[in-house]
Order: sequence, then C-alpha cells, then structure tokens
Amino acid sequence: MKVLVTGGTGYIGSHVVVELLNQGYEVEIIDNLVNSKITVLDQIEKITNKKPIFHQIDLLDKPVLEQIFTNSHFDLVMHFAGLKAVAESVEQPLRYYNNNLTGTINLLECMENHHVYNLIFSSSATVYGNPGIPEYTENLETGHNISSSYGKTKYMIEEILKDLAIANPNFNIIALRYFNPIGNHPSGLIGEDPNGIPNNLMPYIMKVAKGELPELSIYGNDYSTPDGTCRRDYIHVVDLAKGHLSAIDALESGFKAYNLGTGSPVSVLEMVQTFEKINGKPLPHKFSPRRAGDLPEFWANPSLANRELNWQTTLTTEDAFRDTISFIEHQ
Ligand code: WQD
Repeated sequence: MKVLVTGGTGYIGSHVVVELLNQGYEVEIIDNLVNSKITVLDQIEKITNKKPIFHQIDLLDKPVLEQIFTNSHFDLVMHFAGLKAVAESVEQPLRYYNNNLTGTINLLECMENHHVYNLIFSSSATVYGNPGIPEYTENLETGHNISSSYGKTKYMIEEILKDLAIANPNFNIIALRYFNPIGNHPSGLIGEDPNGIPNNLMPYIMKVAKGELPELSIYGNDYSTPDGTCRRDYIHVVDLAKGHLSAIDALESGFKAYNLGTGSPVSVLEMVQTFEKINGKPLPHKFSPRRAGDLPEFWANPSLANRELNWQTTLTTEDAFRDTISFIEHQ
C-alpha cells in the first residue's frame, strides 16, 4: 500500500512514518517545513533503512498538490499537517483557520478528484472543549467551549469529514483524538524539538534539563486534584504512532473517532518527580499562578480504541523521559 503522509517530518508524523516503513508500506511525505526540519528524513532513513519520497509543498498550493495526486496513486492518506500552537492560534485566528481548514479542504478535494477515499486524521482531545467531566468517551458532544482557534480548527475539520462521509459513502475516515503526546523514538534520532520557548510541559522540562531555560514554572498547585497540580493523559508518541497503524485495518465506510490515550492521568508534579528519578538529579521548578484556559484534569477512556482497533498503550512516562533524554544526547 502507498500512503501519503502530510506533515510527515513533524513530531507525530515522523514517528508514524517510521512505523509505516517498518511495516512495509510505501510512504510519500508532504510538508512545508514550517515547524520541522528536512534532516528528519535522514534520521528516518537511519532508523528504517528506507528514505520516503519527500515533497516540500504547502497544502495551500492546490495546483502543486493536485500534481502530486496525478503523479502517484495513493491507497491511504494520513493527515498531520497543520499549525498547532495553542496560544499563537488565539493571537492569529485567520492564519490558523486559513492554514488548517483551507489546507485540509484542498487535500480532501484532491483525494475525491483522484478517488482516494481512505483517510486517517490527526485530531485532538481539545475537540471535547470543557465537558465538565474528566474522563472522555467518544460519544461526548464535541465543539462546546473550545478555548483556542487551534482547537476549533480540529473540531471544524472533524465536522467537515463527517459531512463528507455522508455526502460520499466511498470515504472511509477515522479521526484519532490524541491526548498529551510525549517522548520520542527510543533510537533518540527523532523527537519533539520545538523552536523557541515551548508551551507544552515535556519540551519545557527538556529545555530546563539542558540548561537552556532556568526553571520550570508549574502553572497552579491549587486545583482540586490529589496534589493540587493539573492532571493529563500523557501518551508515549510511539504508542500513539502504532495506533495509526492499527486504525488502517479498521477503516470502513463513514466517519469514526477514537481516543488515543493511556486512560491513566498523571499530575504535573508527578511528571517532574518522575523526570528527576529518571534523570538522577533535581529539576529546578517553582509553583506559579494558573495558566488561563487550563482544565484541572482530563484523560481518555481508551476502551473503544482498545476494542475496535485492537490497540492499547504499553509504554510509560518513565519510558518517555528515558527516550527523550536519549534524544537530547543525540543532538
Ligand atoms: C500540560 C500541563 C499545564 C507547561 C496541549 C494542547 C492540546 C494538545 C496537547 C495538540 C498543564 C502544565 C505546561 C509549563 C506547566 N496539543 N504546564 N508548565 O495544555 O494539556 O494540551 O497540548 O493537540 O491541544 O492544548 O498540554 O503540555 O501545554 O500542559 O505547568 O511550562 O502542564 O498547566 O496542566 P495541554 P501542556
């Protein structure tokens, strides 16, 4: 099978490309490199001994995108490409709506024109907004009280996909709703390497560990949680990537969504303590005021994915920290 992976040099996409190549799939990548480096292709080749075909194009460049579909017949598309910085999306809504929505619509139009009907979409737990309960199941309503334009684009894309699947039953679509991806490939050759000051917890911890930032601020320790800090469902990116491979076999007519998470929440303070244990030394940190928009806690109920995708997580936060330290040592 030949798979087109948009955003395939990015953090999640590159880990999925590794799993696809290891499973014998042919892979072509589309990426505009706005948030990743072309050197990831060399790292993928070192891991898999295969180098995927790469097209540096933007999904907004529809004529060039159309040509990609003319030149190759794809059996499946995995769609990761999109802007995803939550805070930035609040400051730049038009850039996020245009990039994420128009880019996706261009992709879907090319797929339909070329009779490519299998799609796995990189979605997010953020589509649940603030449902008022901490454990999320797929039957919860989505789209209410989503606090960022980024999150709203993920929700809107899911709605576009639902409508498309109704209008054209040829489409077989699965949306995978990620919780909090962490860690990287155990080889240490690919990982999350954001430019600038990270928003997310894990890359921030890594920058402090590397001495690039002085200390971690833990945003709030007065939440109604066991240790007062927020709880999240941190899923190792390799488990997450394998979930995409499992989803291929579950593709069928229509639209389905699955939570990809561990089902076990971990607090920020527990993450710091785990890192200190794995790294063997203290991590400079302090408690700071809450961050606007943060929910106290949420985690996946992954039972639908466990059952219907025959998939479940096997890696731990300790594995993630160990693999990330290896990634840092390779840099
Ligand atoms: C986790 C916890 C912070 C940084 C986001 C996006 C979501 C998804 C995953 C794409 C929170 C705390 C963080 C720091 C801290 N991304 N924290 N100090 O907000 O759960 O989810 O990433 O789909 O859409 O919203 O992840 O890593 O930013 O925060 O205390 O320097 O760590 O308050 O409780 P979040 P996060």
